[in-house]
Amino acid sequence: MGKSSKDKRDAYYRLAKEQNWRARSAFKLIQVDEEFDLFAHSDPDSVTRVVDLCAAPGSWSQVLSRVLIKGESFGRRAWEEKSRKEARALRSVGTENTQRPQPDGIEEGQEKKGANDEEEEEEEDQDKILKPRKNVKIVSIDLQPMAPLEGITTLKADITHPSTIPLLLKALDPELYEGDDANSPHLSPNRPHPHPVDLVLSDGAPDVTGLHDLDIYVQSQLLYAALNLAIGVLRPGGKFVAKIFRGRDVDLIYAQLKTVFKKVSVAKPRSSRASSLEAFVVCEGFKPPVKDSDGPQGSKGGLGGFDNPVFGGARPGVAGLSAGDHHRWIPPFIACGDLSSWDADASYELPPDHVSLDPVQPPTAPPYKRALELRKERGGAFGKTKSPR
Ligand SMILES: C[S@@+](CC[C@H](N)C(=O)[O-])C[C@H]1O[C@@H](n2cnc3c(N)ncnc32)[C@H](O)[C@@H]1O
Repeated sequence: MGKSSKDKRDAYYRLAKEQNWRARSAFKLIQVDEEFDLFAHSDPDSVTRVVDLCAAPGSWSQVLSRVLIKGESFGRRAWEEKSRKEARALRSVGTENTQRPQPDGIEEGQEKKGANDEEEEEEEDQDKILKPRKNVKIVSIDLQPMAPLEGITTLKADITHPSTIPLLLKALDPELYEGDDANSPHLSPNRPHPHPVDLVLSDGAPDVTGLHDLDIYVQSQLLYAALNLAIGVLRPGGKFVAKIFRGRDVDLIYAQLKTVFKKVSVAKPRSSRASSLEAFVVCEGFKPPVKDSDGPQGSKGGLGGFDNPVFGGARPGVAGLSAGDHHRWIPPFIACGDLSSWDADASYELPPDHVSLDPVQPPTAPPYKRALELRKERGGAFGKTKSPR
């Protein structure tokens, strides 16, 4: 598909390029945040440490960087701020027009300018200023190399591999692990307590084969790997957001998540195609597993979770649940994103003078790189390729 026809058939692909996002996925995170306030806009201090798993090419990390480090707003929040400013501007024009000199020299409306107006002006000044957060720490991990992003620690690692655990811990608290071999899974146990994180994101997806059951299975393994890392680093009350494919037995995953989080919901952002099985689990209120390793929540339970330094080696279990159980717990399913926003399944007419932009960040080392090289060697794109002799 050419760039221009993709622009037409995928509004979010086009918008991502226009708004400087590395991938259309940025809109999914922004829309989930609109509904679940993932970044705690009302209490910014409560979300400053975030891990972004399966992060390449990095549009979610861009969102994190721009919201947490630069203090920008997006989506509905940005629109609301803009509307507030416009309404204030209109009101002040209205006030200027109705002001008439009073006989005693006092201008009409002057008396009324009291606490409320000052509050509004103050609010307006606040709006003009970006609100970066203090002590922000963002660590992003992917199998693929990721082009650097300001203020973000990027790691090239496999989230399903045990060697990624010490890498992540060290990236989160480098000062605690000085002198340790980052590749060693056996870090010295006598170190000070590491700082847990507030939010773990995972947009992990395997290279899909088209065999649905296989793709769903491999994706669920990525989710468990992400959950395992999340359990090791999240603070009590922290949040975990991860991509899922809603396959046949997905409710087992929901039930397992519910054992370590107070609230689990399924979010479907408008930028995710309705025709796709993709959705996101939004897990809030992390309940760290109890320390007794032999108890019902102990290490003999099902989920695993590495012996994490944050909870002194406690591991989660799936109390009372195993694959054979017939517990069905259905989480709320929540559509995110404004109804007036672009429809991911619709094609849109483009203006005749539309110029198709290049992607913001082409993949640095895509798995299909060799295939592209071979195609080039053989004379060009599919359909024009000369058959090999
Ligand atoms: C849909 S993309 C993520 C897009 C990203 N959230 C963004 O906004 O740019 C899925 C990513 O999962 C990564 N991935 C798949 N398996 C992985 C694994 N075992 N460990 C780390 N990353 C993995 C892929 O390399 C791919 O970059």
